[in-house]
Amino acid sequence: MNRFDGKTVLITGGARGQGASHARAFGAEGANVIIADVREERGRALADELGGNSVFIKLDVSIPADWKAAVEETERRFGFISVLINNAGIPAPAVSIADSDPEDWDQVIATNLTGPYLGIRAVVPSMRRGGGGAIVNIASSSSHVGTPMLASYVSSKWGVRGLTRTAATELARDRIRVNSISPGVIDTPFITEPPRPGEPPTSDHFTAEPFAIQRMGKPEEITKLLMFLASDDAAFVTGSDYVIDGGILLGPIPTDGQ
Ligand SMILES: NC(=O)c1ccc[n+]([C@@H]2O[C@H](COP(=O)([O-])OP(=O)(O)OC[C@H]3O[C@@H](n4cnc5c(N)ncnc54)[C@H](O)[C@@H]3O)[C@@H](O)[C@H]2O)c1
Repeated sequence: MNRFDGKTVLITGGARGQGASHARAFGAEGANVIIADVREERGRALADELGGNSVFIKLDVSIPADWKAAVEETERRFGFISVLINNAGIPAPAVSIADSDPEDWDQVIATNLTGPYLGIRAVVPSMRRGGGGAIVNIASSSSHVGTPMLASYVSSKWGVRGLTRTAATELARDRIRVNSISPGVIDTPFITEPPRPGEPPTSDHFTAEPFAIQRMGKPEEITKLLMFLASDDAAFVTGSDYVIDGGILLGPIPTDGQ
């Protein structure tokens, strides 16, 4: 018996990186998996790889009409939605607040914060029809600190934690649990590819050497925590944020360990 047999799971940003890892794991545990992403070719290829109970739906998380269409198509194929993973996110250009472009700010907030808000808003009626559900929002270790040059990203992820706690209160009586995960630096294209044309990837200047666990995290490590939070194993967990960062928020470890 799999934890997600027959359950329908919608994953935004499911075409690559952490979202693809989550999609594979839910598929392996018996779920109907909706890979919802703007990245069409890759999303379709992954749905084909996962087989029968997986579909790709083109969704831009910042567009309300896309959400409406995605929920309608999901319900038509599989019935009500049990699990929503608000995972889609984009990096911000590295620039100070004073020098930044408000259009860049708007784009990051629209994807990283308005996206999860629109997702919850669109999916909750379906979860109510099914008698409950679980929502996991992907924040970031950046949502626990301030980081120079990354105001829009950091603010969007602090917002995701506020949204999570508020949704958990509003949806508790509907038997819908809402939690967030705050990953540290995870080895995906988000880190290893240029965030914008001409900019160096984060992996060019990030070193894990000073931290407790001296490497980047793997997408599968986030998936294991996420699967727990989305499953009935976490029936007593709601309104919480789970940091999984290899100890980055501890700060640098003294070289002599003292
Ligand atoms: N990789 C890290 O170090 C790290 C650390 C902390 C938090 N995060 C967060 O984890 C989540 C997943 O990131 P990842 O590392 O897998 O990155 P990724 O870039 O590999 O994947 C992100 C996915 O989101 C999709 N996406 C982007 N904008 C979208 C939109 N408007 N609508 C729908 N889909 C969209 C992309 O097409 C892509 O498939 C993001 O929310 C990111 O902010 C990542």
